[in-house]
Amino acid sequence: MSSIYEMNRGQLEAEMKDLLARYNDVKAQKLSLDMTRGKPCTEQLDLGAEMLSCLKPDDVYAEDGSDCRNYGLPFGIPEARRFFAQMIGTNENHVIIGNNSSLTVMFDTLMRALVFGELGSTEPWSHVANRKWLCPVPGYDRHFLVTQTLGFELIAVPLNEDGPDMDMVEKLCAEDASIKGMWCMPLYSNPDGYIYSPEVCERLASMKTAAHDFRIYWDNAYVVHHLYEDNRGTLPDILSLCEKAGNPNRVYEFASTSKITYSGSGISCIAANPENIAHIRKFVTVQSIGPDKVNELRHVRYIPDPAALDQVMKRQAEVIRPKFEVTLDILEKEFEGTGIAHWNKPLGGYFISLFVYPGTARKVVALAKEAGVALTPAGATYPYAKDPRDENIRIAPTYPSINDVKKAILVLCVCAKLAAAEKRLEEM
Ligand SMILES: Cc1ncc(COP(=O)(O)O)c(C=O)c1O
Repeated sequence: MSSIYEMNRGQLEAEMKDLLARYNDVKAQKLSLDMTRGKPCTEQLDLGAEMLSCLKPDDVYAEDGSDCRNYGLPFGIPEARRFFAQMIGTNENHVIIGNNSSLTVMFDTLMRALVFGELGSTEPWSHVANRKWLCPVPGYDRHFLVTQTLGFELIAVPLNEDGPDMDMVEKLCAEDASIKGMWCMPLYSNPDGYIYSPEVCERLASMKTAAHDFRIYWDNAYVVHHLYEDNRGTLPDILSLCEKAGNPNRVYEFASTSKITYSGSGISCIAANPENIAHIRKFVTVQSIGPDKVNELRHVRYIPDPAALDQVMKRQAEVIRPKFEVTLDILEKEFEGTGIAHWNKPLGGYFISLFVYPGTARKVVALAKEAGVALTPAGATYPYAKDPRDENIRIAPTYPSINDVKKAILVLCVCAKLAAAEKRLEEM
């Protein structure tokens, strides 16, 4: 197919006929493929099999002698705190361990702010009726849902290859005290796989905010999820940057082992500066008499040090890299020269972000569904599920088998071309 922008009506109609034939062929195959969520596949989960048996009846004690089966250590066992500290590049005293979902820790952190306020707050956030939250887009639908559910107005900010549009972020934050915080996925963002530049990180740490209790939620979910060993994204330590910039309380950092060990049975953490940690501790000790330390112990036995973590992540990458590469190959072949779509080529993380012909993403997802391929709903990567240009589709290649990924991406490409040709004809 040549460039859609250079085709005349007759050529487009001919192209549509071919595409429709391809689409009907695909439909006749009665496929049933699910590309909706970024879940690890069974093979990835199987890599952690050792974790299920690595503890023995006499190996239930943390390095400080605590019995992990019992109550206690509300902030996690020392070696699990060290595990995350080394992973995200901070001090273990700045880390509190959570149970299996970092999303829960984020939700809890917001709930504390809503009920009690943050250090620097003049009132609990729930009293701020017009509270707002900045959302770099495209972004993670579950982030948006958390802040929407908790009553924040979501403000979309464009995400560039080097991070959020900082001119806009700085302006908004400086002017509006009801903007209380911001989502950030600084390394291999979901879904674009973008990496924040050191300059963007510095600006985030040092910008002026009208709200004295402004918080960055630094979701470092993919901090060690490199696809290529020899081409790894890196980040500065945001906690130190905020400290240096004179805004030590500005950031909460989150991470988990959901995509390192088990998504359904990992461990998570929140990291912050000492003052914020002391603030959080007051509530964590009320909320629970101690987290699941047996699972923490299991994790540090399976991954005792950074070298072991490297090995685990290398094996994870070996399973998923071919799925990313086959997706990118098909996109390249199918869309080459058509001008219909563009996409990112991530170095890590869990997604590929595809931009189809403007105004067709919903149609593409609907066509794919009819052909038996379930995709993440169009719009999901924007607040309120409203993609203003109706063009972004999140591809999650990790869960299906490589053959299914191939089939699904081919269907996606046919649907995208068909919808583009149809739209173009309408626009003529
Ligand atoms: C950016 C990001 N943060 C958080 C999560 C969920 O993390 P957890 O399983 O630790 O709740 C995901 C899952 O896809 C994610 O993409």
